[in-house]
Amino acid sequence: MSSRQNLSVVTVVGMKQAGEKITVLTAYDASMSKHLEAAGVEVILVGDSLGMVVQGHDSTLPVTVDDMIYHCRLVARARERALLMVDMPYHSYTTVGIARVNARRLMDEGRADMVKLEGAGVVLDAIRSIVADGIPVCGHLGLLPQSIEKLGGYRVQGREQVAADKMLADAHALEDAGASMMVLECIPSTLGKRISEAVSIPTIGIGAGSDCDGQVLVLYDLLGLTPGKRPKFSKDFLSEMPAGKGITEAIHAYVEAVKSGTFPAPEHGFK
Ligand code: KIV
Repeated sequence: MSSRQNLSVVTVVGMKQAGEKITVLTAYDASMSKHLEAAGVEVILVGDSLGMVVQGHDSTLPVTVDDMIYHCRLVARARERALLMVDMPYHSYTTVGIARVNARRLMDEGRADMVKLEGAGVVLDAIRSIVADGIPVCGHLGLLPQSIEKLGGYRVQGREQVAADKMLADAHALEDAGASMMVLECIPSTLGKRISEAVSIPTIGIGAGSDCDGQVLVLYDLLGLTPGKRPKFSKDFLSEMPAGKGITEAIHAYVEAVKSGTFPAPEHGFK
C-alpha cells in the first residue's frame, strides 16, 4: 500500500474559499514532475500541449489517449504531493460512452487524479457522466486549443458582450454539471474576474488576469524552452534567476509570484 499523501481535490478546491491562490503547471515527464514537487506546485497538469512542445505538431489535435496515458504515467512515477490532472485529448469524449471509457483509462492506466475536458454545451453530458462515475473533472473555457480550426486561430475569446455573457453561462453550466474547477484561457482580465466571482469552484487562468483563483502556465514557457515568440500571457522566470539558481528556483519564483499576486502582471493580460 502506498503511503503517499497527495493533495486531494477537496483540499485544492477549498483554497478558493480560504483565499489562497492555486498554482498549476504542466509537466510531461518524471524529471519535470520532480522539479514541480520540489518547488511546491499544487497541481501538475499533463496537458495535451505536449503534442506541440514535446511531439512537434502544430496543434494539440494529433495527440491520442495512449500518448496521454504514457506521459501521465511518467509524471505520476515522480509525483509525491501534487494533484495530478490530465487532459482528455481531441476526439476522446465525442460521446458519453467514449468519454467514460477514456476517462477511466486515464485514471487507472495513467494514474491521474482528475481529468480535464474542453468546452461546455455538448460536452456537458460527458462531464456529468464522468463525474457520476466518481472521476473529478476540470472544465476549460475561452480559447480551446482542440477547437482551433473552428475558432480560426489562437486569439483572445469573449471580447464581445454576447460572447462574454455566453462564457459566463457556460461557466455556471460547468459548475452545475459537477466540474470541480475550470481553466480560463486567453480572455479579457475583466471577464476572468467576472467569472471567478460568479462561480463557487476555482478558476485557473492562463491569460485571464490576476483575479482568477489560480494560474497555470506551460512549463516550457516558464523555462524559456519554447522556440520562437513566447505567448504574451507567459513569463520566462528562469531567465530572471540570479547566477547559480536553476529550474526548481525558477518554478518556486512562479509559485511565490502567483501566491503574492505579482504574476500575472497587467501586461500579461488582455483587454
Ligand atoms: O494543454 C495544456 O497545457 C493546457 C494548458 C494550456 C491549460 O491545457
